[in-house]
Amino acid sequence: MTRGAKRPAGRPPVSHPCFSHWYPRAEGALERMVGEARRLQNAQAVGRTLIVGAGTGLDVPALGPQVTEVILLEPDAAMRDILRQRYPHLPILPDVAEALTLPPSSVDTAISSLVLCSVGQVPQALRQLARVLRPGGQYLFLEHVSQTGAWGGVQRLLDPLWQRVGAGCHLTRDVAAAIRDSPLALDSVSRVRQGGLVPVIRGRAIKGQPLDGRQESPSAAPGAQ
Ligand SMILES: C[S@@+](CC[C@H](N)C(=O)[O-])C[C@H]1O[C@@H](n2cnc3c(N)ncnc32)[C@H](O)[C@@H]1O
Repeated sequence: MTRGAKRPAGRPPVSHPCFSHWYPRAEGALERMVGEARRLQNAQAVGRTLIVGAGTGLDVPALGPQVTEVILLEPDAAMRDILRQRYPHLPILPDVAEALTLPPSSVDTAISSLVLCSVGQVPQALRQLARVLRPGGQYLFLEHVSQTGAWGGVQRLLDPLWQRVGAGCHLTRDVAAAIRDSPLALDSVSRVRQGGLVPVIRGRAIKGQPLDGRQESPSAAPGAQ
């Protein structure tokens, strides 16, 4: 954006050149941590699928066969350049999750992988996802979360530094609670990485009513965040 040019309303700047430089180089290590969980998550995607905070596009090859259309959403221009190189055939929206330009009830599945940690306003982003999902549509999430006990203390200590290195990424977010408080109905949540500095959860939330009539799946871990 040139100096003095007006930014579209509701679209805060997202530009992290340092992050977009090192993140693609860390993909191998990242996928050793969450690759299997990502494949399990994305295998559930159906129909018109929105990938929020697509980054370098690691979610794309993990999508299951029931996906009919893919829309990438990535507000960081440097990340969008990588996406365009890797997936020239896919549409890429520059929106932030808090201000989606898609019409209401226009997607069947929304996916976020390691994104809510960096989103500026998580409740607003979840309201927007609920708006663009069709009734009965699903939100699949794979997110790292806050920790209790000694590791929680370490997270709180490192969080300010981590935000600087990780482009606004917070270590201390209670993502499951945010989804429970959102207009979406939490359908399942489970831990895929326990303990340590970066525990990870995976789960599904539904717009309107659960697809299969359940309110909360038996696999939902009560303490999962
Ligand atoms: C840690 S990366 C994860 C990228 C990718 N989803 C993956 O699993 O590798 C977080 C991504 O979220 C994007 N992001 C940051 N703030 C966002 C927002 N408000 N709305 C949507 N995406 C955002 C960043 O630009 C970055 O690409």
